Amino acid sequence: MNVFLIGSGGREHALAWKLSASPLLTKLYCAPGNGGISEIAECVDVAITDHDAIVAFCRSNSIEFVIVGPEAPLVAGLADDLSAQGIKVFGPSKAAAQLEGSKGFTKDLCAEYSIPTASYKRFTDRETALVYLDTQTLPIVVKADGLAAGKGVFIAETIAEAKAAVRSCFDGDFGSAGAEVVIEDCLVGEEASFFALVDGNTALPLATAQDHKRVFDGDQGPNTGGMGAYSPAPIMTGEMCERTMNEIILPTVRAMSERGTPFKGVLYAGLMLTPEGPQLIEYNVRFGDPECQVLMMRLKSDFLPALLATADGVLDRFDLRWHDETALTVVMATKGYPGPYEKGSVITGLAEAVDDPNIEIFHAGTTKSGGDLLATGGRVLNVTARGATVREAQQRAYAAIAKIKWDQGFFRTDIGWRAVAREERAA
Ligand code: AMP
Ligand code: GLY
Repeated sequence: MNVFLIGSGGREHALAWKLSASPLLTKLYCAPGNGGISEIAECVDVAITDHDAIVAFCRSNSIEFVIVGPEAPLVAGLADDLSAQGIKVFGPSKAAAQLEGSKGFTKDLCAEYSIPTASYKRFTDRETALVYLDTQTLPIVVKADGLAAGKGVFIAETIAEAKAAVRSCFDGDFGSAGAEVVIEDCLVGEEASFFALVDGNTALPLATAQDHKRVFDGDQGPNTGGMGAYSPAPIMTGEMCERTMNEIILPTVRAMSERGTPFKGVLYAGLMLTPEGPQLIEYNVRFGDPECQVLMMRLKSDFLPALLATADGVLDRFDLRWHDETALTVVMATKGYPGPYEKGSVITGLAEAVDDPNIEIFHAGTTKSGGDLLATGGRVLNVTARGATVREAQQRAYAAIAKIKWDQGFFRTDIGWRAVAREERAA
């Protein structure tokens, strides 16, 4: 079958890489794609905000299945617009994508279905929010309700900081995403991510992962989309996974179905593991980036039938097989990221770096120009390795990075440190 993948990041390169191995695949198209994706799919210049253009492309290229990578088109209703035209799609409807599109929506759903999460209050008015803060204990978390590309969350250590965050939201610093604000308690514990395919009624757990959001070693500096990740997350024991399914994922699936807006796609739960058990920090309605890269490295089974079964509502007949090994990915970013950075620097040495069956390099922000590979994004490459231990995967990833020549690039040198320390304590 012809498949059309939407997106341009390392997540989409990893999906494209996995899908390319499927015997069911005839041809893979990707919009807009990137320099790495262009080696395994035909990258096409269709604006992903133009749903009519996407439908027209599907019609003229006999596309039978569309896979949507990022959240913005889902929240904008791309899955609905494709379904309405009879085109099969992997990804939730606009109504179901509210699980990521509105933090207040998810908090209300958690309250209604007793899903463990931080206590919260929603505000549409600045003054009420500011007055409420005077009654709160610290630290306190202030969030813009809508999609803010990972920037609309503030962990405030003082009331003044919390008030500044509220003002920033209502002043429009996050556009319409900040027109409503959620203020919630700060959870304490270790974070982990849990992924499940959901077909409306059935949830099939995928795997766990942990990422590093801060830009510098030691988890210091500003937040990013993620500077590295590994899977599985050693802290997610069998018991934690079972509790997450029973206390968080399954009640959510049931809630969405009972409300008449069933969730279909991948549900990504950001968790805080507290002494009382897993608590939901937030939902995403798409794969994590770079978590998807490590998931795809560990997946043995063909992924295309699983994505089709999700869209078709027949996941109950499905199972997936995984490598027991750890996969770990290190993000190489352009100097300056997550702030302003230069575009167009040349990268070499990739062929040498991937000369190992345990290594894959997924491109996140590259373009090919003539014979050159150019960095065009903040996050640029995801150097990904498999290993028998976290330590081995980590060593392999950094050995590959050492072969890459890129003056404008930087990376964290400690991806996986928490899991490596845990491994060493256990040894
Ligand atoms: P997000 O951008 O929504 O993924 O949130 C960014 C990060 O903020 C999360 O990964 C957590 O580290 C942190 N965070 C969000 N909500 C809370 C909370 N209620 N308690 C503690 N940390 C939080
Ligand atoms: N790596 C975090 C995310 O994809 O949201």
